[in-house]
Amino acid sequence: MLWLSVLATGRRAAIGGLCVSTSFAATAGSAGVSRPLADAILLSDADFYAQFPYRTVADVLPFLRECAREGDPDSVVAALDLWAARYPMYQISATKGAILDGALRRASPNIAVEIGSFIGYSAVRMARALPRTARLVCVEASPDFAEVARSVVAYAGLDATFVVAKASDCVPRLAELAGDDPIDFLFLDHAKEAYLADLQRLEAANLVRNGTVVLADNVRYPGAPGFLDYVVPPRYDTQLVDAPYEAVGWETNWKVVDDAMSISTRLALLSQ
Ligand SMILES: *[C@@H]1O[C@H](CO)[C@@H](O)[C@H](O)[C@H]1NC(C)=O
Repeated sequence: MLWLSVLATGRRAAIGGLCVSTSFAATAGSAGVSRPLADAILLSDADFYAQFPYRTVADVLPFLRECAREGDPDSVVAALDLWAARYPMYQISATKGAILDGALRRASPNIAVEIGSFIGYSAVRMARALPRTARLVCVEASPDFAEVARSVVAYAGLDATFVVAKASDCVPRLAELAGDDPIDFLFLDHAKEAYLADLQRLEAANLVRNGTVVLADNVRYPGAPGFLDYVVPPRYDTQLVDAPYEAVGWETNWKVVDDAMSISTRLALLSQ
């Protein structure tokens, strides 16, 4: 029990003393917040942790079934935002989610790929923001995470193709799924030290071409070695968008830490 209360206290301190429950309660009644979610928002920490324990990632599923409306992506996103506020975890924050939504809408891709799905939060956000005719492919190395993410996306009534493979091994399958088309939008959120090598693998397979947008999380913290130095002209045009690191906890000593997402557009190389 002790670590749970430390977890909760740390999270609250981490967001500047703002009470999580209160900030969520303010949104209760607005779009996406179901009656059961509004009730869950108002639970004390102790009651929430008793009612919705988190022992494995699959524990998010009974919580969703109770608190989110099936077939309603907004409701699923709102419920997962509450889950992440109670259980600091590796899920992008709502702030970063909004950056992802915006970049995706601007890119209006036919084929979008995310690498590193975890429990499917960003997959739901991406599938929700995609044009109706577009396809989302999610690469996740852990079969357990992929299974949960698949269930979360399906519960939201959305569609995605899952590739259960390490990023370094997924290129042949992605090439098969894309056919002759490029990936128009790529979201990197897996092992940070692998961003650069995995992007270069996709370039070598001609899956990243002129105009492909590459959004990468955690480029400032924990940081992706070599990545930001690579996504510069003449290869890429890159913009950094500041947003705090989401998984405040042991590794950040419960402090809010500066982080950023990078949004890079592949430029036409002379050799292309
Ligand atoms: C590259 O894409 C841009 C639009 O993103 C387009 O304006 C430009 O003509 C393209 N360049 C080549 C060489 O295809």
